[in-house]
Amino acid sequence: MGAATERPFVFINMAMTVDGKITSAKREYPRFSSPHDRIRMDRLRASADALMVAAGTVRADNPTFHVRTKEVREETENPVLHRVVVSASGEIPVDSRFFDASHGGDSILVTTQALPDPKLASFEGRAEVWRFGRRNVDLRATLGALRERGVRRLLVEGGGELNWSLLRLDLADELYVTIAPALLGGSDAPTLLGGVGWPMKEQRRLRLLELEREGDELYGRYAIET
Ligand SMILES: NC(=O)c1ccc[n+]([C@@H]2O[C@H](COP(=O)([O-])OP(=O)(O)OC[C@H]3O[C@@H](n4cnc5c(N)ncnc54)[C@H](OP(=O)(O)O)[C@@H]3O)[C@@H](O)[C@H]2O)c1
Repeated sequence: MGAATERPFVFINMAMTVDGKITSAKREYPRFSSPHDRIRMDRLRASADALMVAAGTVRADNPTFHVRTKEVREETENPVLHRVVVSASGEIPVDSRFFDASHGGDSILVTTQALPDPKLASFEGRAEVWRFGRRNVDLRATLGALRERGVRRLLVEGGGELNWSLLRLDLADELYVTIAPALLGGSDAPTLLGGVGWPMKEQRRLRLLELEREGDELYGRYAIET
């Protein structure tokens, strides 16, 4: 990452089955990785200043945004994470865990100029709303604003469409992938990278930085080469 690109260090963490799926075709809550992976995921959360997910993942899974395991909470000095959700539509249920401020940090909804004001009003008192971009969220501007907010390390936890939105613009630095010993199949089941994809000659290359194993599960850490 060049010094001129004033943005946080961006690292993506995803778990997938051996056949590359991040959930089932029915988009059920992903339950295929181990308790060890949960601790590993919490350590990554504890190392970040902010956690970003996309609206699709909030709608499908209603994920938590804090460090959940007791052992990681005990070993970390500052488990407070800013929560960032990216959504063009603003369709985020107001009772989502995303808005839960009981673990500290700010809730930031990043949307576009196109979102109508009445829709914005529903987030008053729940989340700060940032508008970057016209049709899609301008992620470069979003990362710049997060850096200005003091975020040096941003953890992205998907889903596949948000990952694609970032990677196609070369806005991610590292990818952590858990490969769980499971198969899901399904042509419609999402993979860790959605979007339209690159033609073969534009494929992105990765450099393996670490590879660990616990039981039958594998954990890779890759640098994303630009
Ligand atoms: N296994 C894992 O580690 C893991 C991790 C995360 C998620 N998942 C799974 O992934 C599934 C969801 O993934 P997904 O690929 O379908 O969707 P997604 O990436 O979670 O969400 C897509 C939505 O995010 C918003 N979005 C993304 N990029 C945007 C941009 N540049 N500008 C504006 N809005 C943008 C849009 O929201 P609006 O529609 O609101 O405009 C879009 O419809 C869930 O079923 C979840 O279980 C698995």
